[in-house]
Parts: sequence; structure tokens; C-alpha cells
Amino acid sequence: MSEIVPGLEGIFVAKTRTSRVDGEAGELTIGGFPVERLAPAASFEEVVFLLWEGRLPTASEYRTLRNDLAARRALPAETLPLLRRAAQRSLHPMDALRIGAATLSLSDEDPLANSRGANTERARTLIAAFPTLVAAYAQLCAGKNPVEPDPMLGHAANYLQMLNGAPATAETVRALETYLNTVVDHGMNASTFASRVIVSTRSDMTSAVVGSIGALKGPLHGGAPGPALDMVFEIQKRAQISGQPIAEEARRWAEKAITAGERIMGFGHRVYKVRDPRAEVLGAAAARLFADREDAALYRDARTVETELRSTLARLKPTHRLETNVEFYTALVLHGIGLPANLFSPTFAISRVGGWTAHVLEQIDDDRLIRPRAMYVGEFDRPWTPIEER
Ligand code: ACO
Repeated sequence: MSEIVPGLEGIFVAKTRTSRVDGEAGELTIGGFPVERLAPAASFEEVVFLLWEGRLPTASEYRTLRNDLAARRALPAETLPLLRRAAQRSLHPMDALRIGAATLSLSDEDPLANSRGANTERARTLIAAFPTLVAAYAQLCAGKNPVEPDPMLGHAANYLQMLNGAPATAETVRALETYLNTVVDHGMNASTFASRVIVSTRSDMTSAVVGSIGALKGPLHGGAPGPALDMVFEIQKRAQISGQPIAEEARRWAEKAITAGERIMGFGHRVYKVRDPRAEVLGAAAARLFADREDAALYRDARTVETELRSTLARLKPTHRLETNVEFYTALVLHGIGLPANLFSPTFAISRVGGWTAHVLEQIDDDRLIRPRAMYVGEFDRPWTPIEER
């Protein structure tokens, strides 16, 4: 093949048993389950087991994994001073997570080992420690001391307790767990590809995951939900000031943004050409979470804004099929759980590390260097000019 495929769109680069994205039908299968069936029912630990082992755990396998992850939540002693320094510099939480994740090598019992077993151990530590890193950084940024992890709690409940310093309600734990399960893996997305490329050189699990955090940080991948929620708030505010219906303000806002060539956050997807099925699952989770709450109007307004934005995009960008993506309802669910917007992307990472680690293990088994080609478009045979003559 001698032609360039921009963005590697449509190119298969690996076989995987983790997940399948059908962009035309709008279907996502995770470990053999439709996302709609798996995400609202499973615990995050069960989904991690499913991705790693290709099947659901038995009750005793589940307990063993849950206890093992709970036992790995503590951070190396050197990590907190680094996070403190990051907080003083007001680093982005994704940068703090990247710095913190790299320090997990310090607690590696056999840092030079690179067997599949050694990398599986690292995968467990990474998954277990991500919530501790994110919550500790959030507490430090707020001028507080980090909350110790509670080994009696599951992954999601413990994360919320470390963030808030108080036990979470069953509803918020369920909503968070549904979110974590929904976005845990998604075919060959950019951050997963980054992990596979890194480990295909026979590098290690921690290096691969640290690289993936960098890839996830960008607004075209994991950084969109914060801006998506800001947009809903902005439209709500405009409607309050103008006295116009929110649908009318949403339409005006979208027309202006699209005409100015801006992208509407939470819409469009490289693979999905219909509504992202994850938006469906998270929309339902948001409906359950906001039902009977004082701020239930936010959920209703978000639905109205979504409908208006979809139809305005269809009208003004008729040649593209720009539908709601996962980030739109991610924003609503995570906000409803009580997370501030700057923790949306790191919370995505807390989930997606499950997928990254599963792909890394698959790639280790494949053991094939990923090494595409670049088409040279520069000059040839240039004469050399000494520096003093340039
Ligand atoms: N709003 C307005 N126009 C858009 C949007 C959008 N959200 N998305 C794509 N377009 C337009 C582009 O401007 C372009 O129009 P043009 O051909 O007239 O110039 C056309 O649609 C095609 O755009 P591409 O960039 O080629 O589409 P691509 O497949 O690369 O983009 C992406 C996918 C990056 C997600 C894009 O839709 C986007 O930027 N969306 C907004 C950000 C966002 O929601 N990101 C989260 C994605 S989900 C995830 O990663 C978990």
C-alpha cells in the first residue's frame, strides 16, 4: 500500500477480544456483552476481570481481585511530595496523574522483570492506585490532606470517599460504576493505540499506561466533557437572561458556533455515524441519578440542548453525520455525582486504564512491533552549506 490513510481511519492494526465498535449500527460490545447490558449491572472489578480473562469472574475470583486491588491502593512514599509540588504549580490533574502514575515504578517489587506476569502485577497496581492519585491530588489542590483509602470499600465507592472525605450514597456509587464500565474500552482509540505502540517495543506496562494518559488528555479524546457541560450552563444562563425558551437559545448558540467554524463539544465521532450507544447508557444513568433531585432541571435542560444541537448540526453540516457522543452525558453524570469538571478527564482515565492494561496484555501476547511508515515529502540531494555561509 503506497497511499496515506489520514488519521489511520478504517485501518485494522490488531486483533482484540476486549471490545468491538460498530460505528454504522451504533453498537458497542465489551467482552461479548452489549454495553447496555453490562455497564448498569456490573461492578468495575468484574469488568476488569472480564477484559483480562475474557469471562466473568466466579464469586470467589471476584472477591480475590477486589481484595487484591484494595490492598494496592497506597502510593509510594515519594509520590505525595511530588503531587504537593504539582498542586502548588496548579498543574492540570491529568499532568498530576501522569507524574503520579510514573512513580508507581518505585513500589515495583521486581522493577527489571518484564515477563507477562510482572506486567500483570503492574496492571493491578496501576488500576488500584489511579483513584488514590486523582483523589489525593484533588484534596491537595483544595488545601486538604489526602483521605486514606478504605480497603473495605469497592473501587468506585472508595474513590468517591477519598474525593469527598465522606461515604458516598448507593445511587452515586452505582452511577459512577455505570460510567466507569461504559467507557472502560473502546476499540482502537488513540490512547489505547499509544499503549499498544509503546509495549510493542517490548517496553513495560507502566511505560505504556503513562503514555496513554498523555494521549487521553487532549480535547479531541478525553478532554471534551468539561467544555460540554460548560456549554449547557452557558445556554441555560442565556435563556435565563433573555427569557427565551432554552431550545431557542441552544439553536442560536449552535448556529453562531458552527458558522464561526467552532466544534461543538460532545458531538461527532470518528467511528460512530449514529448516536454513540454510550450516550444512551449514560443518558439513562443521568435520568436515574437526577430523578427527584432539586437540580433535576439540569437533566431536562441538557436533553433539550442535545435535541437542538443535533438538529442544528444536521441542518448546517448536512454532509456529516454529527451525533451525540459519550462526552455529552459523561459531563452530566459526573457532575451529578458531584465531581468538579477538572476531574472529568482523570476519572475517564481511572476507567480506561482497565482497557489499556487489557490491550497491553494482548499486545504482549502478539509480540509484534508496531511500526508503520511515513511518506517522505521533503527534498532530495540538497547541497551542504557551511554554517558561516548561511
Ligand atoms: N461540531 C461541529 N463540527 C464538527 C464537529 C463538532 N463537534 N465534529 C466534526 N465536525 C465537522 C468538522 O468541522 C469537519 O467539517 P468540514 O469538513 O466542513 O471542515 C467535519 O465535521 C469532519 O470533521 P473531522 O475532524 O474530519 O472528523 P473526525 O472524525 O476527525 O472528528 C472528533 C471526530 C474529533 C470527535 C470531532 O467530531 C470533534 O472534534 N468533536 C468535538 C470534540 C469531542 O466531542 N470529543 C470527544 C470525542 S469522544 C471520545 O473521544 C471519548
